[in-house]
Amino acid sequence: MLKLGQVVIALCAAALLVQANEDDLQYCDCIVDVNCDDSAAITEAMQTLEANDCASNCGTEICSKAFFYAQAHHDHCLTSKLPAGIEELHDFEGICTECYIEREHDDSLPTCASYECTSEAAATSAFNYLAANCSSDCSPTECQTSFQTLRAAHDGCDHDDVPEAAEQGLHDFEDLCAAYDCNVEHDHDHDHDHDHDHDHDDHTCAASRSGTLAWIPLGVAAVVGVAFM
Ligand SMILES: *[C@@H]1O[C@H](CO)[C@@H](O)[C@H](O)[C@H]1NC(C)=O
Repeated sequence: MLKLGQVVIALCAAALLVQANEDDLQYCDCIVDVNCDDSAAITEAMQTLEANDCASNCGTEICSKAFFYAQAHHDHCLTSKLPAGIEELHDFEGICTECYIEREHDDSLPTCASYECTSEAAATSAFNYLAANCSSDCSPTECQTSFQTLRAAHDGCDHDDVPEAAEQGLHDFEDLCAAYDCNVEHDHDHDHDHDHDHDHDDHTCAASRSGTLAWIPLGVAAVVGVAFM
């Protein structure tokens, strides 16, 4: 029979793993080679996700690799370079573990107005406006600004902070509103994701900060566990 101490260790370790999964977004470019020009490879990753039923279980290596690859390109590459099938990626969001990468800068576009990620309603009302009033023409000013609001939310916020309908809705209008798109200005002093400092310019692919700190509670758990033995 397991001793109480061993149970405590096991429970603490399990809790720690869950915690690490939620807080510890890795940089996509540390996991996969990002090449926006290789649309065949992006399509292949999408096919791998479908063929292996990764929407039901993304825990396998083949699924998580394919998802990292597809998501990195989806988030980073300019829409014009992505194969149409990439939008099916949303079927796997929330199931597969995500990584973090910024969108490629498009020099031909203006900068998006700043967007408050905590105001979910703004993204939703922007999407509702587009859906109701802009389905055939994105040129009216209100359509342009609604699209830019969605872009800012989609590119600048955690997926968790943007209602899924709005997140996916962006893609319904990406072609129609392409002329009114914008670049999201990334504030490198601001923690994009929980306790991570996603500094694009000088991040390294060594063990992450929270990955290192994770050993501290594990050590505490072990001491507590031993004390109960
Ligand atoms: C569509 O446009 C009209 C007129 O500007 C506006 O009153 C209405 O609220 C818009 N619809 C949505 C869903 O935002």
